[in-house]
Amino acid sequence: MLSTLLAAFWIMVPAYVPNPVAAVCGGGMPIDFGKTYADGRRILGDGKTYRGLVCGVCAGIAVGFLQIWLFGTFGLTFLPQQTLASIVILAFGALLGDMGKSFIKRRIGKNRGESWPIADQYDLVAGAFILMLVFDPAWIFTNVTWQILIVILILTPILHRTVNIIGYHIRVKKEPW
Ligand code: CTP
Ligand code: MG
Repeated sequence: MLSTLLAAFWIMVPAYVPNPVAAVCGGGMPIDFGKTYADGRRILGDGKTYRGLVCGVCAGIAVGFLQIWLFGTFGLTFLPQQTLASIVILAFGALLGDMGKSFIKRRIGKNRGESWPIADQYDLVAGAFILMLVFDPAWIFTNVTWQILIVILILTPILHRTVNIIGYHIRVKKEPW
């Protein structure tokens, strides 16, 4: 059980890091350049910026490199093996999922920062895994057993909520979700 929890966390680290880093570093030019969609609402909104995207993805990849180094140096073969491809896909996929979520969120009329339960918590998992299925499906089938998947689905909303509440209290995030 503990090993499954550790494996799930180890797999998701490069996907967990980008969101909080984007919240800390974000700002400046929005990814949609302030443009509106055909429905008159913003394409993505001011909560998705280039700085947040670049810093978040780079941080996720940097932590992934640390994982690869730790794995090789300390022979952590009981953990899933991250690769250059997996860390890039997980980090970028997490924020791609976040952007996809914001796009749909705007289309259904929810404002930037408004809570959208389930989607707000699972966007990063969906984005990371869909991108992985497209570019490196073998990695998923080798590393993500169904037990690990279940743990990821339980662990992610708990961590997401915890980190966001902390972010809210230290004034990094505007909302505690
Ligand atoms: N952020 C960013 N760029 C990104 C993702 C996040 O700059 N690509 C920053 C923004 O400052 C954002 C904060 O991180 O406000 C929190 O992210 P999130 O909760 O995903 O955005 P929301 O502001 O809630 O917007 P949305 O309703 O579109 O999810
Ligand atoms: Mg939000």
